[in-house]
Amino acid sequence: MTTSRRSLLKSIPAIAAATALPAWFVEETLAQQAAPAAGAPVRIGLIGCGGQGTGDAVNAQRHGQIVAVCDVDAGHLANAKKRFAGAEGFSDFRKLLEKKELDAVICGTVDHWHTLVSMAAMKAGKDVYCEKPLTLTIDEGKRLVQVQKETKCVLQTGTQQRSSMHFRLAADLIRNGRIGKVDKVEVWLPAGLRGGPFKTSEVPKEFDFDFWMGQTPKVDYVKERTHFSFRYWWDYSGGTMTDWGAHHNDIVGWCLDLDRTGPASIEGKQLVDMIPGGYTAASEYEVLYTYPNGIKHYCKSTTASEWHGGVKDPKGQQHGLKFTGSEGWIWVTRGVIKAGNNPDKMDDLNPDLLKKPLPDDAKRVVVSNDHMGNFVDCVRTRKDPICNAETGHRSASIAHLGVTAIRLGRKLSWDPVKEDYINDPEASKYVAREMRKPYDYSMV
Ligand SMILES: NC(=O)c1ccc[n+]([C@@H]2O[C@H](COP(=O)([O-])OP(=O)(O)OC[C@H]3O[C@@H](n4cnc5c(N)ncnc54)[C@H](O)[C@@H]3O)[C@@H](O)[C@H]2O)c1
Repeated sequence: MTTSRRSLLKSIPAIAAATALPAWFVEETLAQQAAPAAGAPVRIGLIGCGGQGTGDAVNAQRHGQIVAVCDVDAGHLANAKKRFAGAEGFSDFRKLLEKKELDAVICGTVDHWHTLVSMAAMKAGKDVYCEKPLTLTIDEGKRLVQVQKETKCVLQTGTQQRSSMHFRLAADLIRNGRIGKVDKVEVWLPAGLRGGPFKTSEVPKEFDFDFWMGQTPKVDYVKERTHFSFRYWWDYSGGTMTDWGAHHNDIVGWCLDLDRTGPASIEGKQLVDMIPGGYTAASEYEVLYTYPNGIKHYCKSTTASEWHGGVKDPKGQQHGLKFTGSEGWIWVTRGVIKAGNNPDKMDDLNPDLLKKPLPDDAKRVVVSNDHMGNFVDCVRTRKDPICNAETGHRSASIAHLGVTAIRLGRKLSWDPVKEDYINDPEASKYVAREMRKPYDYSMV
């Protein structure tokens, strides 16, 4: 046995204990871990320097250099310039994209700018790490996938749960029949904020609010519509259905091998009224997706989890996913995976369902243990990243379909091949949105 193999084997018990993952899976993961692709540091531009964009850029510095930053809020831009010393600052992303030496961009803007920014970047020959949800509408996703195919740029969607060992173990076990034939998935998402009414005020002088609103309807400035809390307004996002749903419902597609398709029908309803003059996106809701193969996928909000995923009520239902099959169930959420045989008894665990290794010839999903690292590797190797444009688009579509069902409050029939509702002109209007000029496709 080589020294490196011996030291690898030695580290398994400690990693298994720290992650609460079965030892066989940790061993497999360590053995599969490929060395990162070699190459010069990647030169990256950050577009959208708020909370997540900044975090992504700090993370990306492990593999490259942030050479340019862009934001429509001069205050955020100034902070980013301080944080990423030497980076050139821009207020219009199209100007940043003219920089020849840039290899890639991170798009950390609000959701309603993801598609136009990513399209413009790929047309300028830059690879893209775009935050989730990849799009604002299903139509945007179809167009974005097309541009990715034409330009062959690498596009990684920021659904980093695909690079988590707990979710990957769930995917490998479920795809290989560990809990038999799956017929039901239940997904719980943290409930959204229900606040208001909010007041209009003067636009802060450092903020280009018109550019920020972009394609969305022109409105008077309300602080709560903008930084961070934009996600609780239908105009800019879809509440936690698109925010957290882009993560957990993405895992449904992965575990059930439904990445390139979608449901046949969707039913939804809003469970509480929103406050007039306040946030508009439903804070509490429930949706049922039914797939062509009969699988039922329930997606419900839970008030026992904080909006950021923390525990609010330890006795209540936490956010995460439960897969139920003919031979058992698997519960998975961030940092936790559990399994049992009786789906009605969640505390009656059967650890053997996780502990028993998969046979050597079982088909595994693609391995990534570092989402940003996987992106940079693909920038260097030109391989497809773990959450490419098509997958990011289909996962965002699940969220958009749920939002439409919640807003219409009735059952909708969906054609996942045509990507349109069936004989339902009222629902079909939600596939695309009218884009306020000049912030439409003509600008990129
Ligand atoms: N992957 C994750 O776990 C995760 C976590 C949090 C947020 N997100 C996603 O990241 C995105 C940003 O979320 P946030 O919480 O950081 O929001 P935020 O409001 O803090 O940041 C968004 C930034 O983008 C800027 N911006 C908006 N339009 C722009 C444009 N056209 N050009 C340049 N800059 C523009 C804003 O001024 C702001 O600074 C959202 O899409 C969100 O869903 C992902």
